[in-house]
This record gives sequence, structure tokens and C-alpha cells, in this order.
Amino acid sequence: MNQNLHIFETPLETARAVAELILTKAKEKNKKSLPFNIALSGGNTPQLLFKILANEYADTIPWHFIRLFWVDERCVPPTNVESNYGMTYESLLKNVPVHDANIFPIQGEIDPISEAKHYQYILETQLPKRNGYPKFDLILLGMGDDGHTASIFPNELELLHSERFVTVSTHPVSKQKRITLTGQTINQADDVVFLIIGASKADVLKQIIQRRLNYETFPASYIHAQSIPAQFYLDKAAAEKL
Ligand code: 6PG
Repeated sequence: MNQNLHIFETPLETARAVAELILTKAKEKNKKSLPFNIALSGGNTPQLLFKILANEYADTIPWHFIRLFWVDERCVPPTNVESNYGMTYESLLKNVPVHDANIFPIQGEIDPISEAKHYQYILETQLPKRNGYPKFDLILLGMGDDGHTASIFPNELELLHSERFVTVSTHPVSKQKRITLTGQTINQADDVVFLIIGASKADVLKQIIQRRLNYETFPASYIHAQSIPAQFYLDKAAAEKL
């Protein structure tokens, strides 16, 4: 079995394995008295992980060394039910002692082009660089049924190769504006972790993992870490066709 595949019986076990990975990686940086720079995705899947982190890791992860960024954001206010920041605050941030100064939300409530420029400045000034792009310690990703990741959708593959660190994208169905890290930024990270749950992802995941059929049409196919493949944390349902 591919060494970057980690398959578990249930969503809970899968999310808990990702929590353990975050603990391990954060403690490695903490031992060097260095911050742990992590970018979080939104959507439904991460909520399970965030609740586990809040309920089971509040006292073990060195939260004071954690610096939180976002992979993407919907262009809505943080009070909107679709807000990735809003979801992360409710399921994680209000329950763990991350310093406010170490939380760098994408501002979904302001003009998308202005916020993309603002977040580009945040990434430029708050993170070390690798190959000219901001370098995260770990980036947590999900994957849509259409093979999108972050908010890079199949009809905007050019965002995978943009020279910008972060840009504006558009959801192909709802036409909702999004702010998203670009593929080049994601691919500089030390670790890139996909947390993917559910049978609805199984067909696309098979094509991506086995590089078959239409894999080149899926943004998630182009994602890796700087020197190792992306790690896939999957429940049995998502992995059922591998
Ligand atoms: C977002 C996410 C997006 C998400 C996928 C999967 O803002 O929606 O960043 O990339 O990871 O759409 O979403 P689910 O976890 O809800 O299936």
C-alpha cells in the first residue's frame, strides 16, 4: 500500500490520527522553541478534527506556539454559517489557548480583491520563504467531490501555478467568491495532509491516487509537500475503491 495513504475504519479514528500527527509535528517545532505555522481548510470534514483537538488535545498541544492561517475562505462575514473562520472559532478557537496575535484569519467580509492583496501581505511578512513562496509547517486540506482542494476548482487550474501566494477564485456552481492559497504556495509546505471522509469522494480519489482516467482535471492531483508526497488520511468509505 502506498506509504502516503493512512486508512481508518471510521471518520472519528481518521480525524484522531490527524490530530495525533499535528501534535507530533507541533511538539517537534516546540522542542526547538520555534512556532508551528499551520494553515487550515474549511468545509464540513475539518469540524470533526477541530472538535477532537478542542476536547482531547487542549492540554497537550503547545497551543502558545501555534500560529494559525487559513487555506481559503468564503467571501462572507465571519458570522455567516458558511464562514470557515466562523466554523473554526466555534469548533476549536474558543476552546483552546491560541494567542489572538497568532491567529491570521482571511477577512471574508471585505472586498475579495482587497483581501487577497491584504492576505498576500500577511503571508509575505508573517512566514519564512521557500522558493520565493511562504512556507508553512503543515497545511490541512480537504477535497470536494469534484476533486477541488482549497478553493481551487477544476475550471481554474491556472491557480495551481499562479505566482501570487493567494488569490480570488469563484465557486463554479454557486459563483460565490473565495480567497484561496495558490497551488505553488501549498506545495512549499513541509507537510501537506488531506483529511478525506465519505464514499462520495471515493471515485475521484481513486483516479487521483492511481493517476488514472481524468486525474489531470482534478486540482488535488497537483498537490504535494515540498519534498514528500501529500499524506492522505482516509476513512474506509473514502478509500473503498483504492
Ligand atoms: C472549503 C474547503 C474545501 C473543502 C472541500 C471539502 O472552504 O470548502 O477548503 O476545499 O476542503 O470542499 O469539503 P467537505 O469537507 O465539506 O467535503
